[in-house]
Amino acid sequence: DWTMAEFRQTKIAEIRAQVGDKRVICGLSGGVDSAVAAVLIHEAIGDQLTCVFVDHGLMRMNEAEQVVTLFRDHYNIPLVHVEAEELFLGGLAGLTDPEAKRKFIGKTFIDVFEAEARKIGGADFLAQGTLYPDVIESVSFTGGPSVTIKSHHNVGGLPERMNMQLVEPLRELFKDEVRDLGRELGLPDAFVGRHPFPGPGLAIRIPGEVTKERCDILRKADAVYLEEIRNAGLYDAIWQAFAVLLPVKTVGVMGDGRTYDSVCALRAVTSTDGMTADVFPYDAGFLTRVATRIVNEVKGINRVVYDYTSKPPGTIEWE
Ligand code: XMP
Repeated sequence: DWTMAEFRQTKIAEIRAQVGDKRVICGLSGGVDSAVAAVLIHEAIGDQLTCVFVDHGLMRMNEAEQVVTLFRDHYNIPLVHVEAEELFLGGLAGLTDPEAKRKFIGKTFIDVFEAEARKIGGADFLAQGTLYPDVIESVSFTGGPSVTIKSHHNVGGLPERMNMQLVEPLRELFKDEVRDLGRELGLPDAFVGRHPFPGPGLAIRIPGEVTKERCDILRKADAVYLEEIRNAGLYDAIWQAFAVLLPVKTVGVMGDGRTYDSVCALRAVTSTDGMTADVFPYDAGFLTRVATRIVNEVKGINRVVYDYTSKPPGTIEWE
């Protein structure tokens, strides 16, 4: 019988054996997987690990600060926080095609990460929070090896470019097991229980052109939505919930004035690994409450709709 406590000890021994006295760089995304990988590796090799957090400005409300605080103050793990919002938003200007947006973000992320890695003197190893579903995804979710549904955002390509070896201690785990390991390592419950968040961030939740203004609007709507989900005690019953800001304006009425503003779509799904998903069945009262709050509180949105598409045929994210 296999326990997380044993898994932790086994992996620590494996990481020490693999890395020796060499240096490791870990890219933090703000998500659970890279955080758990980083804390586990830090436990194994201490300050031979440096974390790099490339902040692309496409995070949710207050998310970047939370990551930096957790790692620097709580765990005392060396962390380089790269504030690259202008670079990312500058390059996203004018891009509307989903794959073009994903590719730009992925490439820029690697460029920034590589430059930072060189600044701190490089490393022999690159740590990633790759999970088992990430390993098998290309097979199971495309239905054929030659079809790319979405270009996934990771630091692939970097190990060869920088001549680094990979450290991937979570490769055998599913998401729920990573969460167990995170708790075992003492990560705060609220952090460990977080919904998954995609590498390209809010950019793929803003169909059409991404601007700072639209990111700010979406961040507000998303924060209201998540606050209501937590208040209703539904957060842990949902795999992933988020708002999407549509490039569509519709006419509305507020007070005695006409409005002409954007539509916001709400998404919530249940899933075990993200590869298939079912729509979360809110009651109508909940959705009405969220819609009312978003339209009242978020300038720039005057209509809210709910996405009733399962995966397949829909994907979880809209782009
Ligand atoms: P889709 O939209 O393909 O998403 O049904 C499945 C799961 O993967 C997340 N996702 C990503 N995660 N980099 C990531 O790290 C990405 O480029 C990416 N795209 C989607 C998505 O949020 C969902 O949990």
